[in-house]
Amino acid sequence: MRIVVLNGVNLDVVGRRDPALYGGISISELETRIYEWASELHCTVRARQTNHEGEFIDWCHEAFDWADGVIINPGAWAHYSWAIRDAVELFTVPVVEVHLSNIDEREEWRRTSVLEGVVEARIIGKGPDGYREGLEFLVKERI
Ligand code: DQA
Repeated sequence: MRIVVLNGVNLDVVGRRDPALYGGISISELETRIYEWASELHCTVRARQTNHEGEFIDWCHEAFDWADGVIINPGAWAHYSWAIRDAVELFTVPVVEVHLSNIDEREEWRRTSVLEGVVEARIIGKGPDGYREGLEFLVKERI
């Protein structure tokens, strides 16, 4: 099973951000864990991060013909990028939205996600382990 993991804006500096919210883990540590979990679950993962919205959308398009499942943490784009929603809507494979922090219990503006209605599952507030849960969800969906 092939899974694409896309992390968006400001997740490259996640290790510098409030550890109480984001777990104090760097993006490379996070990606290392994701690759380890993927190998335990016998899936092939491509994990990428960008701060450029167009690039993020290009990577969604690339994933259309490759991925059997997708994990997306768009960062703040989740709250306003209709362009990302339009791209995600085109996936014919299951998509899981992950947020490290619990966006439902933070500022009002974080409580809306443009991905609502176009993702199969949403995992929030579980820190890095949310990605593991996302991988497990996608593997179960496939069975
Ligand atoms: C985030 C939550 C967003 O509100 C925020 O803008 C981020 C990270 C998370 O993983 O908790 O950059 O997506």
